[in-house]
Amino acid sequence: MTDLPRDPRHDPVLRDEIVAALAIAPGELHVDATFGAGGYTRAMLAAGANVIACDRDPDAIAEGQALVDASEGRLRLVHGRFGEIDRLLAEQGVGEVDGIVFDIGVSSMQLDRSERGFSFQKDGPLDMRMAQDGESAAEWLNRADEAEIADILFHYGDERQSRRVARAIVAARPLSRTGELAVVIRKALRHPPGAPKDPSTKSFQAIRIHINGELDELNAGLAAAERLLRPGGRLAVVSFHSTEDRIVKNFLRERSGGDAAGSRHRPAPLPLARAATFETPARKVRPSKAEEARNPRARSATLRSAVRTAAPAWPDSSTQGNSGKETMSC
Ligand SMILES: C[S@@+](CC[C@H](N)C(=O)[O-])C[C@H]1O[C@@H](n2cnc3c(N)ncnc32)[C@H](O)[C@@H]1O
Repeated sequence: MTDLPRDPRHDPVLRDEIVAALAIAPGELHVDATFGAGGYTRAMLAAGANVIACDRDPDAIAEGQALVDASEGRLRLVHGRFGEIDRLLAEQGVGEVDGIVFDIGVSSMQLDRSERGFSFQKDGPLDMRMAQDGESAAEWLNRADEAEIADILFHYGDERQSRRVARAIVAARPLSRTGELAVVIRKALRHPPGAPKDPSTKSFQAIRIHINGELDELNAGLAAAERLLRPGGRLAVVSFHSTEDRIVKNFLRERSGGDAAGSRHRPAPLPLARAATFETPARKVRPSKAEEARNPRARSATLRSAVRTAAPAWPDSSTQGNSGKETMSC
């Protein structure tokens, strides 16, 4: 294979740990469900895998064509949502795979381009749509009522002052720019200029998760991965905040029959209604200190992985209700 083109903009988080978790044997077929700038895909190709990679962002797919060309037939790129990755693969004539990886969230490419509207640091249109279709952040923020906005900020951003921020947003409408929204949030939270942590971080994250339906997608993607993986196949998921990680942890705990004894805080659950579809998950993996120092984005990353058993996949309804939302009210 010719040398794969590198992407200097991108330092993929936990790349080596992902390749280890997938335990790639040359010639196997693996899925990169979140292609982005192709950092994981490059590493998977270099380890000898054939790869099908997916992204909902048409820019990521277009910019990945150079990698497809260099891969000598070992990489296919598909445009779509990983929540329906099994359907997308069926269209490629694939019904079973050896491994699948998810790197949840926004890409550095999306964050760096102000015109995509994900960044509170760079002014741009208030957009935040990964797939570049559907309702934009501006459209939603300008129509939603205050309680709905507060609820999203609290549940998806852990914003403890969600009501105060939502009130300020509603008072400032109509909003059309990320810069405007960031100023409204900073003022609402009485943020002194130049203070180290920008208080708009949590609200921007929450709005992005809502606009892209990211938690529903994660639930659907995990269930689709369960249907696609062969017995002995491997699932690996990198997430960047506690809400997503809770969904992954609960999914793997449920599907592996783990935690069967309960704990001091939680009674023992009823016996598994269905056979475990995953072996006991590996311990969660966090980036090394060296990686955190090199790449600040890695600081909040968590990798969870598990091996598929031979049991049939559970019906889709099994994941309903695993929204990751905390039960506290705001
Ligand atoms: C964190 S980046 C992935 C970076 C990638 N691992 C790399 O090394 O370059 C996440 C990517 O997943 C895509 N994405 C997020 N949610 C998706 C979904 N539900 N379906 C398909 N792609 C999605 C985003 O558009 C973004 O490009």
